[in-house]
Amino acid sequence: MRAVSTTPIAPLVAGLLLAALPALARAERSQMPAQVPKAYVQECASCHVAYPPGFLPAPSWQRMMGRLNKHYGVDASLDPATTQQLTQWLVAHAGTYKRVSEEPPEDRITQSAWWVRKHRKIDAPVWKLASVKSAANCAACHRDAEQGIFSDHHLRMPDGLTAQQKRAFQDD
Ligand code: HEC
Ligand code: HEC
Repeated sequence: MRAVSTTPIAPLVAGLLLAALPALARAERSQMPAQVPKAYVQECASCHVAYPPGFLPAPSWQRMMGRLNKHYGVDASLDPATTQQLTQWLVAHAGTYKRVSEEPPEDRITQSAWWVRKHRKIDAPVWKLASVKSAANCAACHRDAEQGIFSDHHLRMPDGLTAQQKRAFQDD
């Protein structure tokens, strides 16, 4: 039996594929830790997406978890054991990059300087569109936010954008 292909194009194609692999892996890397407690998905992703712990510094998570009964206008309290389990996990995986070490106002990811910078091209009225509702609603524009993927290559355009507003979603 002879090898299926002996044309010189095959190694070339293989080489191109290999060259593209690191870029793909980077684009699709999840910001979520490998191990996510079931309770995090059950309890912290019912009203919004499960935010990656690395997007806030440890003191912000600690403060938030210490007052879940007053959670941005809602009561998100959990039993003490679950609260403790999730606090430990959030703190263990909290952001340690320099940009995340700053404690943002209201312990909001969406008020972190790095987050505001990443979203500076978005026209202010876009955050209020019915299809978006809030900056905290990451999944309106990040189609794989549930999986912790926020790369530029995994965006989606919410309904109701003007041609001008669409530009923030297009690679330039
Ligand atoms: C009962 C609904 C509910 C539950 C359960 C809940 N949250 Fe929230 N959360 C909210 C609301 C409402 C906001 C504010 C959203 C907005 O501003 O649009 C919020 C905001 C947040 C933010 C800030 C988002 C931003 O603006 O950057 C974080 C972080 C967060 N929640 C984490 C958690 C964690 C961790 C848990 C689990 C312990 C949890 N949430 C459970 C309703 C909930
Ligand atoms: C109204 C749409 C919209 C919402 C809502 C939104 N984003 Fe984004 N986000 C974008 C766009 C568009 C970009 C790309 C901006 C650019 O490249 O100039 C972006 C970029 C990012 C990046 C940088 C990605 C990269 O590869 O550099 C991160 C991280 C991110 N967003 C996280 C979040 C998180 C976390 C939330 C929710 C708390 C959120 N975003 C909510 C539209 C949105």
